Amino acid sequence: MSNDDLFTRAKLSIPGGVNSPVRAFGSVGGTPRFLVKASGAMVTDADGTEYVDLVGSWGPAILGHAHRDVVRAVQDAAARGLSFGASTPAETELAELVKERVSALGVSPIEKLRLVSTGTEATMTAIRLARGFTGRDLLVKFAGHYHGHSDGLLAEAGSGLATLAMPASAGVPAAIAAQTLVLPYNDLDALRAVFAERGDQIAAVITEAAAANMGVLAPDRGFNAALHELAHEHGALVILDEVLTGFRVSSSGYWGLSLADGPLYTPDLFTFGKVIGGGMPLAALGGRADIMDYLAPQGPVYQAGTLSGNPVAVAAGLATLERATPAVYERLDEASAVLSEAVSDALSREGVAHVVQRAGNLFSFVFAEERPRNYAEAQAQESWRYAPFFHAMLHGGVSLPPSVFEAWFVSAAHDERILSRIIEALPAAARAAASAKPA
Ligand SMILES: Cc1ncc(COP(=O)(O)O)c(C=O)c1O
Repeated sequence: MSNDDLFTRAKLSIPGGVNSPVRAFGSVGGTPRFLVKASGAMVTDADGTEYVDLVGSWGPAILGHAHRDVVRAVQDAAARGLSFGASTPAETELAELVKERVSALGVSPIEKLRLVSTGTEATMTAIRLARGFTGRDLLVKFAGHYHGHSDGLLAEAGSGLATLAMPASAGVPAAIAAQTLVLPYNDLDALRAVFAERGDQIAAVITEAAAANMGVLAPDRGFNAALHELAHEHGALVILDEVLTGFRVSSSGYWGLSLADGPLYTPDLFTFGKVIGGGMPLAALGGRADIMDYLAPQGPVYQAGTLSGNPVAVAAGLATLERATPAVYERLDEASAVLSEAVSDALSREGVAHVVQRAGNLFSFVFAEERPRNYAEAQAQESWRYAPFFHAMLHGGVSLPPSVFEAWFVSAAHDERILSRIIEALPAAARAAASAKPA
């Protein structure tokens, strides 16, 4: 069956034909590709067409798709049992590995870790934990940040909501939405004002370690540290959401990376997803032991999961993290540098105004003259240039994220040969972006 036929059929049985909104090509138009196979840097659709992939399953595929050792670890674990509903030795191994990896400048902020199945669960639980620990209700988040789809986090969120231009979701009770205060990113004055007014009611500030769901938009230098200082002065916790950046931009996440050229800050809680599960449903929250011990069965904050710490997912996560060596991060950094520069050159040659946005090896492009610092500025770009660019790349055999508000993901399998294939497709895509007209 062709992609077109599969989409028509899917729409009869699945809302919008997809199980996660951004897959629907809503902002770029056309028929989403139905994938049947992925290996290394390549994906293959139902029509048998191969594409170089820059989506990387939205982050997890750091080693490339279906890495042989990861697949073998999964097969071995599956053969021993798909799920036990009881503890396994590998869960502790993974927790220990995460504690060891997420450490920098002699600081190891993860003392305890709990495994869950999705990033949404990780952030939802971290927020409940922060509220239980502080005895306060209010949460501060930043516009354009995406932390999953739990009720309190969908106001002015990035990712699919940015793509679909949805300021919020229907179905969220007003009383719950009122517990979340949404501020502009990179705006310390706004943060100071909200703490001055309601500081004793704020349980936590949640922030993406570097925003990457409104396109990539790194925090200003020192912003994360200042945010921590302010929150801690007022007795609030900070939840650093590293679901997307964790184990991707460095082995100690964006937190570790940012300490190399900025002031030290120590988050109270971290959330992880994507790379930690190596492509299987696995995520985690971790942090200070005194806070984490507030979780049941030790403490009064309840959280549970039939499939939490699933043995097959843990095997994929362990195998992936063990192979995420310094050489892998070097490769990712290099591929990201070569590629972002090539795209920028191609756009410049066609006179298309753009800015390259980076956070470590994550990058994306903004069709604007100036670097945006927050969601409003990111939304003001000439986003209509992206659809023709995207389709020209797809036509040239390269699968990009189907939204200008998503990061591009390289992997260790993006070698010189693969990069050349992408670079070959760029001139036509840049021409398409240059001749695009607003809708
Ligand atoms: C920063 C961040 N937090 C949380 C999530 C939610 O994770 P999941 O899609 O696994 O629920 C995402 C997903 O993209 C994310 O990028």
